[in-house]
Amino acid sequence: MTLDSDLKNDLGRNEINKKWVFDKFGQHVSSGKVAFFKEASIEFVLGKREGCYLWDYSSGKQLIDCHCNGGVFNLGHRNPAIVETLVSHLNGYDIGNHHLISEPRALLAAKLAELTPQGLDHVVFGVSGGEAIDLAIKVARAHTKRSQIISFTGGYHGHTGLALATGDEKYRAPFEPLAPGFLQVPYHDFEALKKTASKNTAAIIIETVPATAGILVPEKIYLQEIRSLCDQLGILLIVDEVQTGLGRTGKLWGIDHYDISPDIMVLGKGLSGGIYPITATCMRAELEDVFLSDPFIHISTFGGAEIGCFVALKVLEISSNPSFLKRVNQTAEKFSAFFKSLQKDFPSIIAGAHQLGMMMGLKFTHPKLGPVFTKCAFDEGFLAIYANNDTSIAQILPPLIISDAEIEALTPKIIAATKKLTHFY
Ligand SMILES: Cc1ncc(COP(=O)(O)O)c(C=O)c1O
Repeated sequence: MTLDSDLKNDLGRNEINKKWVFDKFGQHVSSGKVAFFKEASIEFVLGKREGCYLWDYSSGKQLIDCHCNGGVFNLGHRNPAIVETLVSHLNGYDIGNHHLISEPRALLAAKLAELTPQGLDHVVFGVSGGEAIDLAIKVARAHTKRSQIISFTGGYHGHTGLALATGDEKYRAPFEPLAPGFLQVPYHDFEALKKTASKNTAAIIIETVPATAGILVPEKIYLQEIRSLCDQLGILLIVDEVQTGLGRTGKLWGIDHYDISPDIMVLGKGLSGGIYPITATCMRAELEDVFLSDPFIHISTFGGAEIGCFVALKVLEISSNPSFLKRVNQTAEKFSAFFKSLQKDFPSIIAGAHQLGMMMGLKFTHPKLGPVFTKCAFDEGFLAIYANNDTSIAQILPPLIISDAEIEALTPKIIAATKKLTHFY
């Protein structure tokens, strides 16, 4: 890298590098993000990261990661078991070739078939959640020979082609025209869904707990009614477990709380172990009919990369361990008690908590408070981002491996950030 010589005179080496990173990132990656973070006085460049912690590149400022990229870092940053799995398999493997028969892909697919809800025996691998959602929608359309896809207002399934078409207007509008045949209905309003769904509907797609909409935990009956409606009308139920999967809710899959099986279940984020991107669209075996006449009709060059398969197998081994899930539930109870006391102490600020296991959100009394909390959290030493589709919610998503000592370090920071909000509102 080249550095301007006048800068070298003014600043220490890391500060020079940090300014260089900001400048070049602004010039070549995203001037908008640089302007946003400067405006918010969040001049943070991600440097060292380990376990539950992130450090700024130059100042050494430490943050407890309560964002985790929506679950990418469920097992913490650079989890030693995951790193060791990746490194050891680099000795003999690479990405592989998705055209060929592959042992690591067969191993991972068989493990997913064993662990996912009953009947989801076929898997297509991808690289991103959006890609995996796109594939789910392609399969639903091709299998049912119907075109209509129903999603929910405030839901979020990614920003690729078909996934984007399921989303809210604000994300879609600049990129229209998008694929036709997509309808949104209000969330948790079964009557509205019933009026819209028909024998033209290929699939209903829903997050088990919509995260971007504000960690909205559905009633059991709601998801069960959706399942029955799908059965009556021959509609496929696509459940997006990109954030809720892999132990986040205290069960291996969020949908396990609802005693129903989807026809297609999409996994992403945490399957990567935070180390190697890999996603999976798990589906009922008969849906493979879509690929029978031409098994090469869907291509993903990097999807199911072989070294990624070993990483995902390790993630599944850790996350499906009953003692791991027991610990997630114990930790969730600690947070639940803490949120109650926080609401009691700050009733004008905290309206409540949305929570299923460690899928957690703090609900504020005003939509302005989410973004302000994000800034106060940064100042206090933790990263917590407001829900994009409901700014009155701060998502609190620490790694599932957070220790008691780390919770004890985090909770006073949450209290201090909340206290600061009283100056704003
Ligand atoms: C619930 C859900 N589904 C799908 C996606 C899309 O995943 P990706 O960003 O890997 O394409 C996301 C990403 O945030 C998500 O939260």
